[in-house]
Amino acid sequence: MTAATDLSPALAAQAQALQLNYAPIDDLHQAFFEHLAAFEGLPEGVSWLAPLQALRTHLAEHFEAENEMMTQFGPEAFGCHKTEHTNVLKVVDEVLRRVAMGEWQIGKNLVQELPVWFEHHVQTMDNVLAHSMKESINQEDCRGASCAA
Ligand SMILES: [Fe+2]
Ligand SMILES: [Fe+2]
Repeated sequence: MTAATDLSPALAAQAQALQLNYAPIDDLHQAFFEHLAAFEGLPEGVSWLAPLQALRTHLAEHFEAENEMMTQFGPEAFGCHKTEHTNVLKVVDEVLRRVAMGEWQIGKNLVQELPVWFEHHVQTMDNVLAHSMKESINQEDCRGASCAA
């Protein structure tokens, strides 16, 4: 992962605004914005394929890490969240397939529209997950002798 200072002011501001104060998820989101930064100033064309593939790899790992966090709340928990992850990966795969055939514009559309989806996803589903993770950690802490109240 590259340093946060590699982000443009606009991306850094967006990343900052979406902080959930839960480092394991915030770190995943920082990495997402670092992948988006790879497209800034990139000439349209074949050069888009590699960063799009890297973005797809990141998203798969990002979603898998969040899905793994959800498992501690039971197999049925966060079903909508997991489904949204799956659906986004399907869209990205279809975009990659078409970009590989030369449809550069659809790759550009994805890079423009993904942050809009991401902002809403973080503020809703990831926010609930981060809150649940923090709460479960607090409950773990309270099993110790220092939290008798
Ligand atoms: Fe996320
Ligand atoms: Fe998520």
